[in-house]
Amino acid sequence: MRRVLVTGAARGLGAALVHGFRERGDAVLATDRVTAEGVDLALDITVPEDWAAARAAVEERWGGLDVLVNNAGVAGGGRLDVATLDEWRWITEINLFGVVQGTATFVPVFKRQRSGHVVNVGSLAGLVHPAGMASYNAVKAAVVALTETTGHELAPWGVRASVVCPSYFRTDLISSMQGRDEALSGVIADLVAGAPLGPDEIAVAVLAGIDAGDELILPDEAGRAAYALKLGDRPAYDATMRRQAARLQALG
Ligand SMILES: NC(=O)c1ccc[n+]([C@@H]2O[C@H](COP(=O)([O-])OP(=O)(O)OC[C@H]3O[C@@H](n4cnc5c(N)ncnc54)[C@H](O)[C@@H]3O)[C@@H](O)[C@H]2O)c1
Repeated sequence: MRRVLVTGAARGLGAALVHGFRERGDAVLATDRVTAEGVDLALDITVPEDWAAARAAVEERWGGLDVLVNNAGVAGGGRLDVATLDEWRWITEINLFGVVQGTATFVPVFKRQRSGHVVNVGSLAGLVHPAGMASYNAVKAAVVALTETTGHELAPWGVRASVVCPSYFRTDLISSMQGRDEALSGVIADLVAGAPLGPDEIAVAVLAGIDAGDELILPDEAGRAAYALKLGDRPAYDATMRRQAARLQALG
């Protein structure tokens, strides 16, 4: 039995992960910014006081934590000359600084225990970077870097870190999207709505990756293929990305 805290657990991948952990007999604190059925604790990942309260709740309930899942996130993006700096700040505050705060909150607990596992939900966009999505790509790449750093820095305490990098999967993520580039938002909405997998399938692969202790969890075939192409055949990868970029010209 592991003691697990999941952020962004009201729906989507977070809710699927909570379900998956509980099915295996793990104890889970399901948190979210919004109150909803299945959410145990209100935790807005951008609010330091919420993180302090979450740590206090975990200490009181369990005396420690085994797995922190930084899953909560929002969708964003927009072409370079359309997206605003405020949009960049908004997505960074949530998708990067939210994860930074969660990690910093629980590192003292993990160090004290000399055990623990930080699981950050990044995105395939953190590894391969399609046109039109600079802000989302950049913050998810930062989450990849943060996770690798966490794994190195906490290795002396026996603490592990994993980053989850899925391709598009079907959730309501797009309802969180803000931004001036509405045409680009429409393109991303179609990709999410038309994705072959849903959150339950992604969660199964994520749990398997956590069990295996994988530092990089690529839970779907599309993501594995895209990343392998980038590593193995950079010219072909660049050509694919440029074709996708050329199609964005039609957005005007
Ligand atoms: N759906 C995809 O195609 C996809 C692909 C790659 C990565 N991801 C990542 O997966 C994670 C989960 O996304 P999802 O698709 O399940 O989306 P979702 O919108 O269905 O769920 C996200 C949850 O996070 C919560 N949330 C948003 N802002 C928050 C905040 N400030 N504090 C606390 N909770 C907050 C929302 O209330 C929601 O319950 C995100 O980090 C997302 O970037 C999603």
